[in-house]
Amino acid sequence: MTSTLSSRSILVCVCGGIAAYKIADVVSKLAQAKASVTVAMTAEAQKFVGPATFRALSANTVYTDLWDHLDGKDPQHIRLAQTADLLLVAPCTANTLARMAQGLAPDLVATILLAADPRKVLIAPAMNEAMWNHPATQRNAKRVFDDGVEFVGPGAGWQACRTVGVGRMSEPAEILAAIEQKLSKDSAGAAHFTP
Ligand SMILES: Cc1cc2nc3c(=O)[nH]c(=O)nc-3n(C[C@H](O)[C@H](O)[C@H](O)COP(=O)(O)O)c2cc1C
Repeated sequence: MTSTLSSRSILVCVCGGIAAYKIADVVSKLAQAKASVTVAMTAEAQKFVGPATFRALSANTVYTDLWDHLDGKDPQHIRLAQTADLLLVAPCTANTLARMAQGLAPDLVATILLAADPRKVLIAPAMNEAMWNHPATQRNAKRVFDDGVEFVGPGAGWQACRTVGVGRMSEPAEILAAIEQKLSKDSAGAAHFTP
């Protein structure tokens, strides 16, 4: 990895998909590259991986509740959205993608994403092929893409539901490369969403 990541502020929003365990590796690699990495998790994400794992790997507070950390000047969701150079949503579930597409903000992660400039957001969708191919998900993906959100994946391959298909989350190395590429661009945006 290059020095592109050094001292950059990256907020990783982890959602409730089976691929959440792979994001521990992404967070570890970001920390090793000397990025300032912070993690926010949905309630469902915490059923797959515990906050303690991300706390240890990032050496930072892990944010899990909209109503925590209200002491500062700004509520945490505004501060986290605005201070990050890049927000990674991974695995990005069908549910969180739908919330992003509609501008819904019922929890911490969704509220952070609504407070963030979409051009700073990189998502790594991850879901069963039927969920990815569903017209609602395709509509939501197109909408957030049109808003300026960048995508890495999804790819095709083995899925946790024991099928092979499209919807598999990109591997950590591809996600890290996409982060580096996005941070090295002068203007954010630009990336592929192919239905
Ligand atoms: C075992 C299991 C695995 C799941 N894997 C995924 C997944 O890979 N992608 C997805 O979109 N939803 C998956 N779900 C469903 C989500 O957890 C569910 O839609 C949840 O509401 C997502 O919440 P979040 O977007 O706030 O994290 C899975 C659920 C279970 C029980």
